[in-house]
Amino acid sequence: MTYETILVETLGKVGLVRLNRPQVLNALNDQLMTELGQALMDFDSDDNIGAMVITGNDKAFAAGADIGAMATFTYMDVYKSEYITRNWETIRNIRKPVIAAVRGFALGGGCELAMMTDFIICADTAKFGQPEIKLGIIPGAGGTQRLPRAISKAKAMDLCLTGRLMDAAEAERAGLVSRVVPADKCLDEAIEAATVIAAYSNPSVMMAKESINRAFEGSLSEGMLFERRMFHSLFATEDQKEGMAAFVEKRKPDFKNK
Ligand code: HXC
Repeated sequence: MTYETILVETLGKVGLVRLNRPQVLNALNDQLMTELGQALMDFDSDDNIGAMVITGNDKAFAAGADIGAMATFTYMDVYKSEYITRNWETIRNIRKPVIAAVRGFALGGGCELAMMTDFIICADTAKFGQPEIKLGIIPGAGGTQRLPRAISKAKAMDLCLTGRLMDAAEAERAGLVSRVVPADKCLDEAIEAATVIAAYSNPSVMMAKESINRAFEGSLSEGMLFERRMFHSLFATEDQKEGMAAFVEKRKPDFKNK
């Protein structure tokens, strides 16, 4: 498989994916997320692979979703195309362990991608944050859900509401990362951890991962809240106005966004 936005290699039983859009600090566009998902799925179904590592470069793991690409999206663009859900969620179905090796910036969607992995090993140069608030949006790929679980409500609120960045030492204190190492050792450390994991019995590794993830699954209240927010958001559409007006006026609705 040839990719344009990632570099893929295998090191023994470890599958390594490097995010590779250095000119934009590995900003995560649609193509990159699709390619990353494909590479992870291929490793997951490869019997010769026991664990995976995702990394960026010295300056950035990823500085977020690609702002240039998103800038002109409308509500209907993102809703109808299942933006994020369509290709950002692939990683949730990967059954073998995935480790993030984070050097430099992991911001916005970059921080969220790191949190989607099973654990993060970071360099002392790492900077984490959810600065979406500065763009007039909120985290959209799990930041508001995974951050409070990982680092407490207080710090999650602080990061998401102020948009400030958190350095590696604070990230380790808060429990966001499992290890902090010197920048030039970060990738080696993650590959070594993946190599250790890949040497264990694969079913037990996968079941350990699956079991730990169960600890974070949601409740009825969460599902109800999600449904309520979606329900509310539909009142932003012209089709809701048309649909209800048509009922009141006893005519067939003429929906614009079919
Ligand atoms: C598109 C980006 C980018 C991004 C950086 N670049 N981040 N392009 N999307 N998220 C581009 C810059 O425009 C610039 O391109 C080049 O990368 C280098 O960045 P600089 O800003 O010149 O570098 P520096 O001065 O070192 O500042 C680094 C930085 C800053 C602090 C990380 O780039 C920054 O604030 N980036 C945006 C971070 C952010 O807001 N992330 C959240 C995005 S929203 P040129 O062409 O000028 O050289 C998000 C929503 C997620 O992630 C929702 C779920 C999907």
